[in-house]
Amino acid sequence: MTSFKAIRVHQVERATNSQLETITLDDLSAGEVVVRVAWSGLNYKDALAVSGKGRIMKGFPKVAGIDLSGIVESSDDPAWRKGDRVLVTGCNIGELLDGGLAERARVPASAVVRLPEGMDLREAMAIGTAGFTAALALKRMLENHQHPDMGPIVVNGPTGGVGGIALDLFSRAGFEVHALTGKAAAQSDYLKKLGAHAVIDRLTLDVGSRPLESATWGGAVDNLGGESLGYLTRTVRPWGNIASIGLAQAHTLETTVMPFILRGVSLLGIHSVECPRAWREWIWQQLAGPWKLRHLDTLVSREILLDQVKATCDEQVAGSLVGRTVVKLSGDL
Ligand SMILES: NC(=O)c1ccc[n+]([C@@H]2O[C@H](COP(=O)([O-])OP(=O)(O)OC[C@H]3O[C@@H](n4cnc5c(N)ncnc54)[C@H](OP(=O)(O)O)[C@@H]3O)[C@@H](O)[C@H]2O)c1
Repeated sequence: MTSFKAIRVHQVERATNSQLETITLDDLSAGEVVVRVAWSGLNYKDALAVSGKGRIMKGFPKVAGIDLSGIVESSDDPAWRKGDRVLVTGCNIGELLDGGLAERARVPASAVVRLPEGMDLREAMAIGTAGFTAALALKRMLENHQHPDMGPIVVNGPTGGVGGIALDLFSRAGFEVHALTGKAAAQSDYLKKLGAHAVIDRLTLDVGSRPLESATWGGAVDNLGGESLGYLTRTVRPWGNIASIGLAQAHTLETTVMPFILRGVSLLGIHSVECPRAWREWIWQQLAGPWKLRHLDTLVSREILLDQVKATCDEQVAGSLVGRTVVKLSGDL
C-alpha cells in the first residue's frame, strides 16, 4: 500500500503533540473519496491543533488540516471520478476526521466540492477556510440588508486570514472598509493595499463602557470575540449587522440587549464547518466569479512545505503572522 507524509497530532497524557509522519490510507478515517492533496492552508484552528495550544481534535491520533485542494484518486461514490479537481473546507476534517495536511486524504463524498471554473488548486487554498468564511459573512450580511449607504464596515483582526480577505471582499462589494488591528504601526500599508480606507489601532482604542456608545459603524466583521466584540455591539449603527466569526481574543461576550432593541442591530453567527451544501457551492462559485479577490497575491504571505508547518503554526498562534499561509503538498498537477 502507498505510504505518504502527514502531520499527525497525538495525545500525550493530557497534552497533544504533532509530528511529521509516514502513514498509509489504512491509518485514515473512513470516507468514500481519496484525494491526492495538491495544497492546504493554515487556519487559526490548524495553528491551535498543531501547536498543541488548543484542543481542536476529537480523537487521536489525527491528521491535522481543516482544508485541502487536490485531485480525486479514487471514489466509491459515483458523484466523483478519478481526475476530478476538488476542494474541501470544514465538514469536520482536521477535527473529527483526518484532515488535509497530508499528501493523501480520505474524505466523505458529501464534503467534496468541485473546483469552480476560473479557479486553480493553489488559489482555492490561498482562499481556503478563511476566505470561505469571510464570504459566508458577506452572504449573510447582504441577506440581512447590509448596504454601503449604512456606513463603513469595520473588520476586527484584519492582519489574519479571515480579516484580510474580508477587507478585500467587502471593498470589492462596494463597502468602505476600516481595519481594526493590533498591528497598526507595522501593517498599515499592507492593510491599505487590501482595500482598507482607514486603519485603527485596537491597542489605543477607547472602547467605552456604556450600553450604547456613539453609533459609528455600518456593520462589522469580528474575528476576536471578547471585549472587542462587546465594543462592536455598542457602536454599530441602527439596523447594522455584526458577523461573529472568531475568538482569537476570547470566547466571551459582554454586552446588553440595548443595541438589539434600541438600534435593531443583528448579531449573525458564522459557522463555516457545517455550512449547508447549497450555500457552500454557491459561495465557491461567487469566489471564482463576481467575488473574485483582487489582492490574493498580497494576502498570501507564505508558501511552505509540510516540514515547516509546525514552526509556522507556533508563530500563527502567537498572533505574530500576517496574511495567509499556503502549504504545498504535490502542488498544481
Ligand atoms: N466561525 C467560523 O466558521 C470560523 C472559520 C474560520 C476562522 N474562524 C475563527 O476566526 C478567527 C480568525 O481566524 P484566522 O484563520 O483569520 O486566524 P489568523 O490568520 O491566525 O488571524 C488571527 C488575527 O487575530 C488577531 N488577534 C488578536 N488577538 C490575537 C491573539 N491573542 N492571538 C492571535 N491572534 C490575535 C490578529 O490580527 P490583528 O493583529 O490585525 O488584530 C491575528 O492576525 C479565529 O478565532 C478562528 O478560529 C472561525
